[in-house]
Amino acid sequence: MQVLSTIESFRAAKAALPGRWGLVPTMGFLHAGHLSLVKRAKAENDHVAVSIFVNPTQFGPNEDLAAYPRDLDHDLSLLKSLDVDLVFNPTPEVMYPPNYQTYVTVEDVTKYLEGASRPGHFRGVATVVAKLFNIVGAERAYFGQKDAQQTIVIKRMVADLNLPIQIVICPTLREADGLAMSSRNTYLDADHRKAAPVLYRALTAAKNAFDQGERDGDQLRSIMRGVIEAEPLAKIDYVSAADATTLQELGIAPSPQPSPLKGEGVLLSMAVRVGKPRLIDNFLYQDGKWLTGELVNS
Ligand code: PAF
Repeated sequence: MQVLSTIESFRAAKAALPGRWGLVPTMGFLHAGHLSLVKRAKAENDHVAVSIFVNPTQFGPNEDLAAYPRDLDHDLSLLKSLDVDLVFNPTPEVMYPPNYQTYVTVEDVTKYLEGASRPGHFRGVATVVAKLFNIVGAERAYFGQKDAQQTIVIKRMVADLNLPIQIVICPTLREADGLAMSSRNTYLDADHRKAAPVLYRALTAAKNAFDQGERDGDQLRSIMRGVIEAEPLAKIDYVSAADATTLQELGIAPSPQPSPLKGEGVLLSMAVRVGKPRLIDNFLYQDGKWLTGELVNS
């Protein structure tokens, strides 16, 4: 496994390894969720590249860029054990040299949910992901369903800009109690860690109601709110029951919504502060079935 921190050295190392490439873009501090993406990429391609880059342009001024957890040595030992071919680990100066001035803006689907709570976040994500796609030149790229809106934004960008890459979305991995794996879980102290599966419980409650026929977006949102508000350590940023394609809220969209059963799907999602960390999670109903992720360590 080679670790490269410049674009030129990465491209030279890649050119020496012909075949189909899979890319797993990450911000490091890898957990089992990231490793499941790497394993899938290994299974589906001749070679795998993983990028580790804490991208400053996707953090707002009051967010956790400086405090974002990092452990490069541990990340590299995990990736080596999975026999990754190349790791791209650039500095911010390599990605954004002086006089850098080009950004990618995906319009409508970035207006809601994370985009509404974190202005500029998806401009940073789309920009860095487009750059990584151009630098790495992989045939496929792998992302986790946990960042549901990110997957929608990236697919939109790839389609709109005709980028020659296939996007593969992999299931959310969850701890035994349902907490979605995230690098930010490391910020949870013992009490907050106990409270954190409230997101999973809230999503499960809304899914159960949906499965019993509930289709009113207000009701689904109110069920999720009720579960979270019963947990004193949790504070809601947003809860959403939205059309999975447009991300407009079900039941309050400007035009009448098609039945979720006939439409492209329903995304139940939320962002909740549990102590300091802001956790996000979602369940997706698509093609008549739920994608709720996989419980591991149970
Ligand atoms: O999901 C992430 O870790 C980041 O948003 C990504 C896709 C690596 C871009 O910085």
